Amino acid sequence: MNSKSKIDELTPQQIVKELDKYIIGQGKAKKMVAIALRNRWRRQKVSGELREEIMPNNIILIGPTGVGKTEISRRLAKLSQAPFVKVEASKFTEVGYVGRDVESIIRDLMEISVRMVREEKTKTVESKARENAIERTLDLLLPPITSKPKPVGEMDNNDELELRHQRTREKLRSQLLDGSLDNRQVEINVPADSTPMMQIFSPLGIEEMGLNIQEIFGGMMPKKVKKRKTTVAEAMRILTQQEAQKLIDMEEVIRLAVQRAENSGIVFLDEIDKVAGGSSGKSGPDVSREGVQRDLLPVVEGTSVVTKYGMVKTDHILFIASGAFHVSKPSDLIPELQGRFPIRVELSSLSEEDFIRILTEPKNALIKQYQALLETENVNIKFTKDGISEIAKIASIVNSRSENIGARRLHTIMSTLLEDILFTVPEEKPDLLTITSKEVKEALQSVIEDEDLSRFIL
Ligand SMILES: Nc1ncnc2c1ncn2[C@@H]1O[C@H](COP(=O)(O)OP(=O)(O)OP(=O)(O)O)[C@@H](O)[C@H]1O
Ligand SMILES: [Mg+2]
Repeated sequence: MNSKSKIDELTPQQIVKELDKYIIGQGKAKKMVAIALRNRWRRQKVSGELREEIMPNNIILIGPTGVGKTEISRRLAKLSQAPFVKVEASKFTEVGYVGRDVESIIRDLMEISVRMVREEKTKTVESKARENAIERTLDLLLPPITSKPKPVGEMDNNDELELRHQRTREKLRSQLLDGSLDNRQVEINVPADSTPMMQIFSPLGIEEMGLNIQEIFGGMMPKKVKKRKTTVAEAMRILTQQEAQKLIDMEEVIRLAVQRAENSGIVFLDEIDKVAGGSSGKSGPDVSREGVQRDLLPVVEGTSVVTKYGMVKTDHILFIASGAFHVSKPSDLIPELQGRFPIRVELSSLSEEDFIRILTEPKNALIKQYQALLETENVNIKFTKDGISEIAKIASIVNSRSENIGARRLHTIMSTLLEDILFTVPEEKPDLLTITSKEVKEALQSVIEDEDLSRFIL
């Protein structure tokens, strides 16, 4: 298997450990996601017919808003080097798009897979591409002598010319390499934008497949180019790219990309609850919701999708669905689809304790973010323990009184709390700011006491 990606080597426990760096709590969800990922790796090792029989552990994450459902998937995507797409299931019910081609999800996935493999391949040809680009840039700086038929007797003269030309070229080469030519202007050929696009009439309608003839047939089509003036440094960058393209075997890239999408691809279907019909009512929206589920079914069950890179089988793509399921329940999904998501994980709502940890522990914790922002103005901001506890407490109170929006509440509270500081810096510039529970109360007490006000502001 060529898709040797980082996540492939992580054990379930290691995956959870990585997720722990960003997501507080939700242990069950992390665990199930980690198992599902590792199982795909395990499947690759199974030999023979049985391998084809082993289906992915598709998962539904269920839980209130703002508790980390999307965040888990986002981190997973960054962690894994597997092709990953995230789509909102509700997108397919948009007015006028009844049953918008669900297969476009797979086309997007394939696009990402191709880009990934191409980038990896580009890395392997990088140094050769650079060498070639250097030669081409030298050609631009000092056009090669076009050898004219030499009149008899002038032989020596021409050789002399050639030699001098060589010397100049070598001189330019060392200047190019040490960067002293970087700002000089040169003229290069770049592809003109007018790549012929074609629309394909796919069985499901005029889905734009973005079939780019030029890309597919590569050098077979005459390429339109235009001249562009630019600096040597920029020319080097562009020419290195062009040379890398030439060195890459696109056919191989596509072959690997199809393989990778089929065996390691992950599709995250957010807001799945929005397409779960509210029971029996045969009203308009419900019908189209069910329509979306019916469209999704073959893709999740395993079908072949036509992409511009060829057929992609979806049998072993991992689907992770997620939804709040406030109104509808997972059992409102059509039975066939339920069967295809055998694993259900509930995420718990977040407590005051969780908020304290979310504020401080994750690598991207809000407090760290604001500290970094203010540091750019040379202002040091500190939060004491009781200050942080107070923020968490207020977040819990507001969540319980108005709508429970989970950890998103911390964003609104932090921005209200720091509003004045963020506004007055840099004109007023304390070197060190300390936020204790007193500061937090002062800044927020009045807002909290007024329920109507807090509804608007926090
Ligand atoms: N358990 C958690 N640990 C750390 N941060 C969290 C956690 N839950 C939520 N957050 C923060 O809150 C924000 C919103 O969370 P997320 O997007 O995952 O919500 P969600 O569960 O997908 O909700 P929705 O159902 O509304 O889509 C995230 O950007 C993240 O910073
Ligand atoms: Mg979400």
